[in-house]
Amino acid sequence: MIAAETSAADFKIRAAGMTRRFDDVLALDRVNLSIAKGEFVSFLGPSGCGKSTMLRCIAGLDRPSGGILEIDAAPVDGPPSDLGLALQRDALLDWMDVLDNVLLPADFRGEPRQQHEARARDLLGRVGLQDFIHAYPHSLSGGMRQRVAICRALLLTPGLLLMDEPFGALDALTRDQLNVDLRKLWEAEKMTVIFVTHSISEAVFLSSRVVVFRPRPGQIVDDVPIELAGERRLAVREEPEFGTLTRHFRSRFEQMGVIHE
Ligand SMILES: Nc1ncnc2c1ncn2[C@@H]1O[C@H](COP(=O)(O)OP(=O)(O)OP(=O)(O)O)[C@@H](O)[C@H]1O
Ligand SMILES: [Mg+2]
Repeated sequence: MIAAETSAADFKIRAAGMTRRFDDVLALDRVNLSIAKGEFVSFLGPSGCGKSTMLRCIAGLDRPSGGILEIDAAPVDGPPSDLGLALQRDALLDWMDVLDNVLLPADFRGEPRQQHEARARDLLGRVGLQDFIHAYPHSLSGGMRQRVAICRALLLTPGLLLMDEPFGALDALTRDQLNVDLRKLWEAEKMTVIFVTHSISEAVFLSSRVVVFRPRPGQIVDDVPIELAGERRLAVREEPEFGTLTRHFRSRFEQMGVIHE
């Protein structure tokens, strides 16, 4: 939940009665959601509940059919200028080395690459890729490629980072490490993050707030602040409060009929 003292000006994103219809499918039905600057929010929910549709609308790549959707208190009209985007497929360019792939957003903004090289090298170092700066994507593992894609999304210090199942294709150990890396990057930069996932424990580990969607029609059915004491290390997943939160979300999915034993 948003703290009561958060004023409208502090909201990065505000959706009110937002709907997105595709022919007879109501992908999103009267969604109300306000996200304050600097929150790390996960969208959690079963397949087809409108998570990607919501993210695409916020990214300015799709438009609501009705209702309000604002970023920085203005209606969304195309991709926000301070947007960083990371998707399930990493979309690295095979003919560019790691450093040039990370520097690509500088080209889109029409700025010289040298101006951003120190930042690119710093980001790559922070995710353990300092020895692979001149490697080409074909020689990297899936986890390394996704790290490069995250560095690219962060190059221009985005105020808003949108991630749609960025770790969905990775093995469990690599995914754990990337969760740790991403959480550290967020703690250092405090950009607003929206992170789409099907994983309850990933959502709880990463987030300051978890928003649960249900399908047909796509609606928000739960919105829970994640307050865990101390630093977010992987061992936090073995703490009783973590178990309480994951049980809460699992029971939500049981109620929806998404999980049954
Ligand atoms: N471009 C489109 N044209 C028609 N229907 C669409 C389109 N995009 C999404 N939908 C429909 O809207 C609903 C929500 O889709 P969406 O991709 O947002 O779900 P999701 O929660 O991201 O699912 P997943 O977890 O499988 O990625 C689905 O029923 C889907 O078929
Ligand atoms: Mg999706």
